[in-house]
Amino acid sequence: MSEIEKIAKKILAKGKGILAADESTGTMTKRLSSVNVESTIENRLKFRETLFSSEGMKSYIGGVILYDETIKQKCSSGKSICDLIIAAGSVPGIKVDTGAKKLAGSPEEKVTEGLDGLRERLAEYFKLGARFTKWRAVYNISKKYPSELAIKSNAHSLARYAALVQETNMVPIVEPEVLMDGSHDINKCYDVTAKVLKECYKELVLHNVNLKGTILKPNMILPGNKSESKNDSFEIAKMTVKCLKENVPAEVPGVAFLSGGQTEVEATKNLNEINKINDTNFVMSFSYGRALQQSALKNWSKDIADVNTTQKIFNHRSKMNSLSTVSEWKQDLENQLSV
Ligand code: 13P
Repeated sequence: MSEIEKIAKKILAKGKGILAADESTGTMTKRLSSVNVESTIENRLKFRETLFSSEGMKSYIGGVILYDETIKQKCSSGKSICDLIIAAGSVPGIKVDTGAKKLAGSPEEKVTEGLDGLRERLAEYFKLGARFTKWRAVYNISKKYPSELAIKSNAHSLARYAALVQETNMVPIVEPEVLMDGSHDINKCYDVTAKVLKECYKELVLHNVNLKGTILKPNMILPGNKSESKNDSFEIAKMTVKCLKENVPAEVPGVAFLSGGQTEVEATKNLNEINKINDTNFVMSFSYGRALQQSALKNWSKDIADVNTTQKIFNHRSKMNSLSTVSEWKQDLENQLSV
């Protein structure tokens, strides 16, 4: 087994998932202002260090995705952030795209940028300790969109990114996110996601990417957040597993879903249902940002010095998601948290 295949397996080892803590400074500022905390470089580090030094990291978090600012920081003990993550038995990762920008030729849509100078940036991140990376493409659903152009150009960039990352001996997380904004139903989300995934794998294969050394980070198949129709977790799981089975090559070792605006418990419950019926070869796990951090952030903002309670909340959320990777989560376990 090659080194990158081993890394992919380590990140998604049994019962483990990924903490996506790679919010750009702009996004992190939004998150912090929503709980009335000033977005200073110190506060961003303090919150992240609180999470990364939690007990739950050791048992439930196989990888942490960092942002450029964070991967270069040191924690209060003087240790580097990467060393803190490695000490917990987890793998440090890094977001390497530079964001979704207006797509020339279809300006209401987005294409993700960041290929220029990427080879050099990757070498630097490897030296800092990163062993995996993330690149996120976004697709909007509406009557007209996503266009062929958006699907093709994002797939091309994702594949060029993944090939460069493997050249540097790191694992690329390939993230084509079909957004849940809109009034479309679950079938529309299924169709668009299927088309997007097909095109991504066509390009990844064309660029000679070793699929065994990649992780897919997709959306679950969900109705739009303004849709009149609602679907239960069983339907969501059924459609999600079917879509992945039909459009993702079997060599891909693991799928780590994004939460994409689901509530914390919804994201956990849906993953649990997915794992109940998962008859594929893929490990199905999580790579959550908001769905792992929301409650912890809320508590932290009330008393930054109360590290203990924030960590307890993060440990609980991580444990619930870990249980959902082996379909052992139950609603009543949610009440186990006492803070
Ligand atoms: P959410 O789980 O909050 O959607 O974030 C995951 C992520 O990393 C999006 O790129």
